[in-house]
Amino acid sequence: MTEHLTLPIDDESAERMRAGGLRLGLVDTSDVGAFGQWLEADSRGFHQPRPSAESLTAQVRGLADRRTTGVYDDSAADSASPVATVSSWPARLTLPGGTDTAAWAISAVTVASTHRRRGIASAMLTAELRTAQRLGVAVAILTVSEATIYGRFGFAPAAFAADWTIDTRKAKWAGPAASGRVHMLPLERARDDGRAIIERIRSATPGEIDLRGHLWERLFGLSGDPDRAKTLRAVRYDDADGVPQGFAVYSFKQPSEDFSAQALNLEYLATATDDAYAGLWRYLLEIDLVSTVTAPLRRVDEPVVWQLTDVRSAKKADEQDHLWTRILDVKAALEARRYRAPGAIALEVSDPLGFAGGRFLLDVSASGTAVVSPLDGEAPHGAAAVALGVGELSALYLGGVSAAVLARAGRITELRAGSADAVDAVFRTAVAPWLSIWF
Ligand SMILES: CC(C)(COP(=O)(O)OP(=O)(O)OC[C@H]1O[C@@H](n2cnc3c(N)ncnc32)[C@H](O)[C@@H]1OP(=O)(O)O)[C@@H](O)C(=O)NCCC(=O)NCCS
Repeated sequence: MTEHLTLPIDDESAERMRAGGLRLGLVDTSDVGAFGQWLEADSRGFHQPRPSAESLTAQVRGLADRRTTGVYDDSAADSASPVATVSSWPARLTLPGGTDTAAWAISAVTVASTHRRRGIASAMLTAELRTAQRLGVAVAILTVSEATIYGRFGFAPAAFAADWTIDTRKAKWAGPAASGRVHMLPLERARDDGRAIIERIRSATPGEIDLRGHLWERLFGLSGDPDRAKTLRAVRYDDADGVPQGFAVYSFKQPSEDFSAQALNLEYLATATDDAYAGLWRYLLEIDLVSTVTAPLRRVDEPVVWQLTDVRSAKKADEQDHLWTRILDVKAALEARRYRAPGAIALEVSDPLGFAGGRFLLDVSASGTAVVSPLDGEAPHGAAAVALGVGELSALYLGGVSAAVLARAGRITELRAGSADAVDAVFRTAVAPWLSIWF
C-alpha cells in the first residue's frame, strides 16, 4: 500500500500554516538532498548529534516508505531546512485475541526551537489524524518524549513498559532447564534469522507493531548510528529440534574500577516460546565478568522474576507509559479486537476534535468477537453503560488499563452501577499489552 505516500497534504492545516507565513508540505523521500535536510532537522529537534554521511545514507534508504512531512519558513536564513518535521506510516498493531489492525504510526514530531509554541505541532498532529481518517485507518499510535503533549489530541497510554536491573551475583537460576542451545551470531545473520521469529512473537503480543525497514535493522545496529553496531553482540536460541525460537542483542558497559563487575545491557530480547525465554535469560544471567544485567523497555510483568532464587535480585524501575493510542473510528477499532468475555456495553464517547464521538453499543458474543452499532435511546436492559472521552476509550483499547481505576479517578462515568467492572471483565487481557521498541 503506497496511498499513504501520495495522498495530498491536509488542506486545513496547510491553510493554517500559510496564514502564519509557513508552508506545510510532503517531502519527496527520493530527493536525497531534501530528505537529508529533513532528517537533519529531525535529529536537531531531539537534540541529537548531526547524523554522519553513512547514517544519513542508511536512513534515506530505510525511511523512504514513510509519509514524510515538513514545515518550511521561506523567510528563514536556512529556508531549505524544515522548521518542523513529522513522519508516519500504516503499521500493523497487534490486538487482544491475536488479531491485528492497521494503525497510523506517527513519529519524528519536532518543531525548531526558533518556531515553538505557535501551533505548528498542533497543525501537524491534526493533519496526521485527518490523513489517517482519509486513509480509513481506525487508530493512531505513537511513543512519546513527554507525557504532557498528546492527551489534547485524544491520545492516551495503552501499553506500559519498565526498565529492569538484575544483580547477577545474587540471582541464581531457579527456572526450568531449557531444552535447546544458544548460538553466537554475527549481527547480520541474527537479523536474517530473527525475521521469522519476530513475526510469530508479534501476533501473540497486543501492543506490538510490525518491525521492518529501519525499525528492524536498527535493533541490530545496522541502521542509524554506525558506531552502535561495534558494541553489539547477538545470540540465537534453537530448541531441541534445532528450530530458532529466539534471539538477544546486548552490549557491555565496563566500570572504571572492577573489570569483573561489568554491566550487560539487554538491547533487545525476542522469544517465541517459554523454553527460549528460559534459555536466553539463563544464558544472559550467567555470563562471566558481569555483575549487573540492565534490561530497559521490558514488560512490566517479566516472568524472569519468578525464575530466580532471590526475587529481590531483580528490581523494576521507570515503569511508565509507552505506547499511546488514539481511536479514530470506534466501530472499526473495537470490532477489530477480541474480548475476554461476552457482554453488552453502551459507550457514550466524547471527542472534542470530532473524529470518534457518539453513542455506541458494543455487543460481544460468546466467542469474543464484537459488533458495534450506533445507539439511539436507552441502553438495552442488562447492558453496562459508561460515558468517557476518546482518550479513556483509547487507554482501555488494548486491555492493559483498568476501567475501574479510571472510574475511581473520575476519568470514566458509570451510567449504571457496576459498569466499570463489567467493562473490565470484557476488555482486560490476562497478560499486559506491551510494545518492545521506541518509534
Ligand atoms: C513538543 C513540540 C513538538 C511542540 O511543538 P509546538 O509547535 O511548540 O507545539 P504547539 O505550539 O502546537 O502546541 C500545542 C499545544 O501543546 C502544548 N505543548 C506543546 N509542547 C508541550 C510540551 N512539551 N509540554 C506540554 N505542553 C506542550 C502547547 O502549550 C499548546 O497548548 P494549547 O493548545 O493549550 O495552547 C516541540 O516542543 C518539540 O519539538 N519538542 C522537542 C521534540 C519532542 O519532544 N517531540 C515530541 C516527540 S514525541
